[in-house]
Amino acid sequence: MQISYHGHSIVKIKTKGYTILIDPFITGNRLTDLSVKEEHSDVILLTHGHNDHVGDTVEIAKQSGALVVAPNELAEYLSWQGIKTHPMHIGGAHQFDFGKVKLTQAFHGSSYITNDQQIIYTGMPAGILLFIEGKVIYHAGDTALFSDMKLLGDIHPIDVAFLPIGDNFTMGPEDAARAVEFLKPKEVIPIHYNTFPVIEQDPQEFAKMVSFTSVRVMKSGDEFDI
Ligand code: NI
Ligand code: MN
Repeated sequence: MQISYHGHSIVKIKTKGYTILIDPFITGNRLTDLSVKEEHSDVILLTHGHNDHVGDTVEIAKQSGALVVAPNELAEYLSWQGIKTHPMHIGGAHQFDFGKVKLTQAFHGSSYITNDQQIIYTGMPAGILLFIEGKVIYHAGDTALFSDMKLLGDIHPIDVAFLPIGDNFTMGPEDAARAVEFLKPKEVIPIHYNTFPVIEQDPQEFAKMVSFTSVRVMKSGDEFDI
C-alpha cells in the first residue's frame, strides 16, 4: 500500500482497492497540496471534531460517496448533513472491507465550531489504529502523552506511527519522543506542526530526540510504500 502525507494531520492511504483519507483539513490549511474538488476517497477516518481535522469531510464525502468513520457523537452529527457514517468508540474495533479500524484514547478535546459561532461538542477524541494488508498504522490524532501508549505498542506491534509534535494543543517534540519510546513503532512520522504560528516546530529537532526508531520527516505530497 502507498501512504502519503498532506500537511497538518492529513494522511492518505491507498490500498489495492481503496483510498482512505484521515483528517482531511484542506480549506484553510496553508501546507496542504490537496484540493477538495480532486479528492475521491472511499473512506474518511476522523480522529475528533475539531475543525482542523473534520475540515472538508462533508464536501468530499458528498462528491465521492465516501463512508465516514468517526467517534460516535461526531459521526452522528455528520450524518445529519446527509453523508454515510459509521460510528465507533474508544477501545472498539470493527472489520470493514478495506481493513480493520480500532479507536484508541487521546487526551484532548472534541468539538466542532459552526459558522454561526456555536460550539457543538462531539464526544471524546480518539486515535486510530488501522490494520491493513498485514500492517499496523497508528494515527494518534491530537493528544497529550499518556503512558498507556506502552500498552498500545505491546498489544499491537506498530509499523508506522503518525504523532503530533506541534506543542501548545498536543504533545511537543519532547513528549512525542517519549511517546515513540512507549509505542516502539518501526517508523514514526511527525504531524500537526507548522500549520499555524503557535505550532511551529523543527521536525529535525524531534528526529534528533528519537533513538532506535527511524523518523521520516515528510513534506506535503510525499509518499512511500509499505
Ligand atoms: Ni484538535
Ligand atoms: Mn488539531
